[in-house]
Amino acid sequence: MPDRPTESAIDRSRTSYGDDGFSTYLRRAFLASSGYDDEALDRPIVGIAVTKSDYNTCHRDMPALLEAVRRGVLEAGGLPMDFPTISLGEILTSPTTMLFRNLLAMDTEEMIRALPMDAAVLLGGCDKTVPAQLMAAASSDKPVLLEVVGPMMTGSWQGERLGACTDCRRFWGRHRGGELDKSEITSVRNELVSTAGTCAVMGTASTMACITETLGMMLPGGATPPAATGARLRHGAATGRRAVELARSGGPVPREILTPAAFRNAVRVLSAMSGSTNALVHLIAVARRAGVDLTLKDFDVIGADVPFLVDCKPAGSGYLEDFHRSGGLPALLKVLEPLLERETVGVSGKSLGSLIDDTPAREDWQTTIHPLEDPLGAAGSLAVLQGTLAPRGAVIKSAAASPHLMNHTGPALVIDSAQDAQRILDDPDLDVTPDHVLVLRNAGPIAAGMPEAGALPIPAKLAQAGIRDMVRVSDARMSGTSYGTVVLHCDPESAAGGPIALVRDGDLIRLDVAARRLDLLVDEEELERRRADFVPPELPARGWRRLYAQTVLPASEGADLSFL
Ligand code: FES
Ligand code: MG
Repeated sequence: MPDRPTESAIDRSRTSYGDDGFSTYLRRAFLASSGYDDEALDRPIVGIAVTKSDYNTCHRDMPALLEAVRRGVLEAGGLPMDFPTISLGEILTSPTTMLFRNLLAMDTEEMIRALPMDAAVLLGGCDKTVPAQLMAAASSDKPVLLEVVGPMMTGSWQGERLGACTDCRRFWGRHRGGELDKSEITSVRNELVSTAGTCAVMGTASTMACITETLGMMLPGGATPPAATGARLRHGAATGRRAVELARSGGPVPREILTPAAFRNAVRVLSAMSGSTNALVHLIAVARRAGVDLTLKDFDVIGADVPFLVDCKPAGSGYLEDFHRSGGLPALLKVLEPLLERETVGVSGKSLGSLIDDTPAREDWQTTIHPLEDPLGAAGSLAVLQGTLAPRGAVIKSAAASPHLMNHTGPALVIDSAQDAQRILDDPDLDVTPDHVLVLRNAGPIAAGMPEAGALPIPAKLAQAGIRDMVRVSDARMSGTSYGTVVLHCDPESAAGGPIALVRDGDLIRLDVAARRLDLLVDEEELERRRADFVPPELPARGWRRLYAQTVLPASEGADLSFL
C-alpha cells in the first residue's frame, strides 16, 4: 500500500508554471475563484467522474446520485470535486459503443492521473461505461471505487410486464409477424423503458455491475438497487464516505484488489447469472491491465462447476428488480459460497468470506436466486468453443440457445457485412433452410469495432414459417439482452484473415457445444487456395478509428489497444 499522503493533493500535483511555490499559489488562486479556501483544499480530495449525457438516457438520474456521493464525501470530512468524461449510451452511439470503450478508459485513466485527487469515485452504468472505468481503475495508482446508476424498473402493457431490452426484441418480432399493429407497438414502446437506469434484465450493464461488486471494486450491495430508489442514493452516499477513508489511508489501490482469485470469483458469478457474453471480452481486458493472466479457456474451466442460478431474462424469466428484492448480489454470493474463494478483499476492506458470513442464509421467498441443489440450469451456461473455424476461440451462451441446435451440421450462408444483413435476410426468394448456418463476417474489432450484430435476424421467409432459431456464427458480439443459438467473437476475425474470411456459401459448418468445437468442414488444401486470394479490408483513413483499427487486440485478448 502506498504511503498515506501528507500534503494536500492540490500542492502535491505539479503543473509547469514556474517554481513549485508559484504552482501551488496559482492553483489556490484559481480555486479561490470557485469559492474554495485553504480549509476546504487541505481536506482529502475525492474526484468523481461523471458520465451524465443527454445522449445516455440510462444515466438520466446521475445528478441525484452525484449529489449523494458528494454529500457522503462531505460528511466524512473530504472535498468532492467532480469532473466529466465521455459518456457511452448504448442506443444513440454509432456505429457501436464498443469502438469507444477504450477511449473512455483512456480518458478516465488520464484524468485520474492528471487532476489533483487522493481517491476517485467513477459513476457509470450503461454497458461500456463500467468496463471502461474498471480498465481505467486497473491502470491507476490511486484508490478507486465504482458506483453505478442502477437498473431501471419494469413497465407494463395490457397486463404484461415489460423491461428493456429482451422484451424490446420479443415485441418487435410480434410486430414484424403482423401480430401487433402500429398503434399497439407504439404503446408498447412507451412502456419498455419506463424509468431512468440501465436495462432491466441481466444484460451487459447489470452483468458488469454484479462483476464489479464481486471483484471488490464497488461497496457491497451496490450492483442491484434500482436507479429510482433511495437504496441507490444511500449506497452512493456510503461510497462517498468510504472514498474519504481510502483517500486518507492511500489504499487499497485497484491492483491490490484485482487479484487472480478476484477474477476467478467474478467468472463464477458470471456463470451463475448466465450473464452477458460481452463480459468475457471486458473481463479479459481488465485482467490484462491488472497484470492477471485470464484466458478464454479459464471461463470454460472455472464456469464448468457453476450451475445457472439467477432467474433473470434473457436466459431466465425475471428482471433485475426481482433479483434485487431477492437480496441481490450479496445473497447470490451466499448461495455460491462453497464455490468461491473467501480471502479476496475489496474496497470495503473486508474479506469476501466475512461479507458472506454477515449475509443471512437464503430463504424460500428469495425466488429469483436458486439454491445450488435446485439450479435453474446446468453448469456451463457460457461455453468457449475452438476449432478450425475459430482457432483462437469463440463464445456461445448455451443457456440462451436451443437444445436441438447444440449439435448441428449445416451449410453456410455467408453475409459479408452487417450492413448487408437485412437486405439479404429479408429477400423472400433467399435460398435458405432452417438447417443453414448463417455466417456474418467483417464485424470483428479491426473491421468494425465489434458491433452487437451477431444475433442475426432469422431470414424473413423462415420467420414467417414459424422458425425461431438457427445457428448463427460471427466475429461480432451480441447484446447481453439477446438469445438464440449464436456463436460469437470468432477469433481470428475475418479482417485479420481468420478462417471465417474463407467460408463460402454451402461449406459445411459443424457446431458441437458439448465437445466445445466449431469446425469448418473444408479440407486444408482448399483453404490454402482461398487464403492466397484473401485481401484484407482497407483501414479507416484517419483519427481515432485508424488508431483503433491499427492497434486493437483480438477479442480473445480483450480488444484493448495494444499499447494500453
Ligand atoms: Fe444503457 Fe441498456 S441501453 S444499459
Ligand atoms: Mg446492451
